[in-house]
Amino acid sequence: MQQLKGLILSGGKGTRLRPITHTSAKQLVPVANKPVLFYGIEAMAQAGVTEIGIIIAPETGDEIRQAAGDGSAFGVRIQYIVQDEPLGLAHAVLTAEPFLGESPFVMYLGDNLLQGGIVELVQSFRSDEPDALILLTRVEDPQSYGIAELDGYRPGSAELDGASAGRVVRLVEKPPRPNSDLALVGVYMFTSQIHEAARAIEPSQRGELEITDAIQHLVDAGLRVQPHIVNGWWKDTGRLQDMLDANRLILDNLSERVEGELVDSQVEGRVRIEPGARLERATVRGPAIIGAGASLRDCYIGPYTAIGAGCTVIGAEVEHSILLEGASVCELDGRMESSLLGRGVTIRRGQRQPRAYRFMVGDNSDISIL
Ligand code: TTP
Repeated sequence: MQQLKGLILSGGKGTRLRPITHTSAKQLVPVANKPVLFYGIEAMAQAGVTEIGIIIAPETGDEIRQAAGDGSAFGVRIQYIVQDEPLGLAHAVLTAEPFLGESPFVMYLGDNLLQGGIVELVQSFRSDEPDALILLTRVEDPQSYGIAELDGYRPGSAELDGASAGRVVRLVEKPPRPNSDLALVGVYMFTSQIHEAARAIEPSQRGELEITDAIQHLVDAGLRVQPHIVNGWWKDTGRLQDMLDANRLILDNLSERVEGELVDSQVEGRVRIEPGARLERATVRGPAIIGAGASLRDCYIGPYTAIGAGCTVIGAEVEHSILLEGASVCELDGRMESSLLGRGVTIRRGQRQPRAYRFMVGDNSDISIL
């Protein structure tokens, strides 16, 4: 098989993660203090995929270029490909055709996280040589996903494992009455056959060239679309709750390391404290990560919290939340939980104090609770 290239889709609108995505690319929102996009690049590097094209949107492209650079930090080579409008995943593939040429490739949605990486999948794609390989996972609400129907498979039937699943017969976007509970995961492997398929299809009702339609086109043309069932977790971080879930799952596997300065402070469980962070009369209960140069005073940081670099938390309790770089929370009597604070956001005390807070606040906001 020819050399496998990589294509990461980091364009799009990110409407579901507004207001954060008004000012910033959703693929750069950090999970355990590392941009989601970097997990995808690392997964490719680990699988030996070193020529990577990243699809970017005109609005957020520069920020992504700056963050991921030429790829040398990951041991890969990155080329950026501007998609003028987010006209669908299959449209992104067509936009990348000059980069991809005749090469087979692995396509990864830049806001997705897949536990366990893609090494095994790349191997089965290389050895079985199907025309496409799609990743599937069982979900409880198939109505909300792109779903694959497999030959001889009914929801809840026998255990499925890896490549032992039946042939793909049909792909359906968000079916009201699903015949399958196998959702498409945001990682795909294609041969160059996909270009012709993407050219053959028409835009869907929402005006996008859908990758599911292009794959269906391959199936209808009698080409071999191989399913692979993923057993580890998979997260599409497009919404706040998914982002918090992804943060929890990654923090669960965090290795402990305390490099900051602790003064009269307690650290319990799996906690990482980056260099230059300073804790004074603080309690941190892991799994949690405290970014470089953060300043925590008279506060409690609870499980599943990621505090970004240069953040400040004073006289407050924060749990199950993500604070982006430079955000600060000061003097809250209640506990802030399940929140996502954008870069440089300030939340501070006023007179009336409820017991708990839940926020999703875009970059550089300043909130006083009066
Ligand atoms: P989606 O999450 O499906 O779309 P979106 O980014 O427009 O988000 P929302 O639904 O919140 O408005 O996209 C999945 C990934 O693919 C994401 O990283 C953005 C990227 N993408 C492109 O690069 N080009 C496109 O045309 C589309 C639709 C998505």
